Amino acid sequence: MKPVHAIAIDGPVAAGKGTIARLLSHKFNGFNLNTGAMYRCVALYCMQHNVPVQKPREVIAILPHVVIDLEDEKVFLNHEDVTEDVKKRDVSLLSSKVAAIRQVREAMVKRQQEIGLTKIDRGMIVIAEGRDAATKIFPDAALKIFLTARPEIRAKRRFEQMGGGANHTITFEQILQDTNERDRRDYERTVDPLVKNPEQYGYFVLDNSDMSEEETVNAVLGEWKKSAL
Ligand code: DC
Repeated sequence: MKPVHAIAIDGPVAAGKGTIARLLSHKFNGFNLNTGAMYRCVALYCMQHNVPVQKPREVIAILPHVVIDLEDEKVFLNHEDVTEDVKKRDVSLLSSKVAAIRQVREAMVKRQQEIGLTKIDRGMIVIAEGRDAATKIFPDAALKIFLTARPEIRAKRRFEQMGGGANHTITFEQILQDTNERDRRDYERTVDPLVKNPEQYGYFVLDNSDMSEEETVNAVLGEWKKSAL
């Protein structure tokens, strides 16, 4: 089958997928398909409407009312810009719970393919990042990257992004605990878990624990040249 004009970047929480996808999309003038933002939107909607996420049926019932758009690195939930709201810690924690519900995943994957294919039809490269970008969303992606880093490094990066404890609202240990908890849910859910043996799924595995953003982007570009569509 002809490869799809997409780079799929999967990997655990805070491995740098978002940053690398953004840098690559600028480089290629492509489209950054931030799939995690969509699960975050479902979680945010549940919070806003007091929907108990431990009751999958109630979450599934809201799906027709959750309209998600991604445009110019902004996230829209029912036409409202929620780019900043979806980054909050409580939304992060809830998002891995809604992401474990099969029907939520099916609806999100459908919407992600719809958005991505519209961009590809317009001649853009799509850089899709998440957990199942290469296994479910674009299994024919021209390049599949599994981006990872040691848990302490990932937690440290997230901690620094959140101000490095300057506002005393959260400690490094709490962030490390959140990271481990979200990893556990991503790897252990029964529906489309994050794969434990990425090489077997055709991924190029990139551990960027000791790499700068620039080195990571260059490593991906090197692989992209080899894949040359
Ligand atoms: O990448 P992120 O932290 O923004 O993702 C938010 C949550 O959504 C995370 O807990 C894992 C889940 N997710 C997923 O299950 N599948 C994806 N394609 C993207 C994210």
